[in-house]
Amino acid sequence: MRIRRLQATDLDSFVELIHRNWDEVLGNFHSAEIVALFRKQMNVPALREQLLSRVLYVAEVDETFVATGALADFHVQRKRKHCISNLFVRPDLQGRGPGALLVAHPLASARRRGIATLHVPSSRVAISFYRRCGFVVDAKQPDARLEMTWMRRAVSDASALSHE
Ligand SMILES: CC(C)(COP(=O)(O)OP(=O)(O)OC[C@H]1O[C@@H](n2cnc3c(N)ncnc32)[C@H](O)[C@@H]1OP(=O)(O)O)[C@@H](O)C(=O)NCCC(=O)NCCS
Repeated sequence: MRIRRLQATDLDSFVELIHRNWDEVLGNFHSAEIVALFRKQMNVPALREQLLSRVLYVAEVDETFVATGALADFHVQRKRKHCISNLFVRPDLQGRGPGALLVAHPLASARRRGIATLHVPSSRVAISFYRRCGFVVDAKQPDARLEMTWMRRAVSDASALSHE
């Protein structure tokens, strides 16, 4: 699997893969309102906007688009909050390893940048996956209304780097 930065020509495929996930996977775990909300938020102009604050990745196997991911810098109360976001694996390939490789990529990038902690707003279905990747659930959950669970892990925590 090859992980590379998103290019302008990838925008449509990126959005399509995320929509497929909301339709085929996440719709089984989240309410219809939340599916509609996140689905609507993900479109090509919104993704272009995200390029200003996120490093967006795509993963390919044999030049076929298989997964998306991002390292984002969210600002919360004027503090930087470095996050994994947009992590979506093509539904038919889930559970076969691409997700773990895709988490390792922003982790390595965060480590090179001297970032201490990585956060992630996890979907209901991905909590166990992120636990497997060394993340723990935060005590405070400001986005419970959005059915998202915030998790975090130390970037330098070598004990949980089994997939890197
Ligand atoms: C969550 C997601 C990114 C994980 O990627 P993946 O390629 O399916 O996961 P992997 O195959 O790399 O799995 C890595 C490990 O996590 C475990 N795992 C993956 N998904 C899991 C799940 N739903 N529950 C429990 N464990 C899970 C795997 O068993 C594997 O463990 P192992 O190394 O001991 O075998 C992917 O399933 C996905 O896109 N899900 C739908 C969209 C989504 O929720 N994205 C996250 C948005 S925040």
